[in-house]
Amino acid sequence: LATSEVDLSAIKPGQAIKTIYRKQPLFVRHLTPQEIAAVNAVPTGSLRDPQTLAERTKPGKQEWLVTMGVCTHLGCVPLGAGEGENRGPFGGYFCPCHGSAYDAAARIRQGPAPKNLEVPDYVFRSDTKIEVG
Ligand code: FES
Repeated sequence: LATSEVDLSAIKPGQAIKTIYRKQPLFVRHLTPQEIAAVNAVPTGSLRDPQTLAERTKPGKQEWLVTMGVCTHLGCVPLGAGEGENRGPFGGYFCPCHGSAYDAAARIRQGPAPKNLEVPDYVFRSDTKIEVG
């Protein structure tokens, strides 16, 4: 199958889950209003890979962030998509291999990774279901 469905209904605000898409880790994150406000307060021009949260999410769905779980440095799987895992100094994801830290929009903020975590192609099939691919 080229596509993969993800059920969003059980993912609580503040939670991120890790699933698999095309044999690679996929992160699906339900941002809280506070996280959305925090990432939207960051001047985009200060970012290494300048993108707004709106550019990384679907219209009207800024609370749902879907990215590959593959560090853009050398491809390790960052931490932060699971209960009690280390989200790093910017509160998103943290790559333990060489210390790349991503924010809650999965944008690179510190460390050697050159790019934000990649957003795959996906669509909302309903309010609680997306189809990736
Ligand atoms: Fe993630 Fe190097 S692979 S920091």
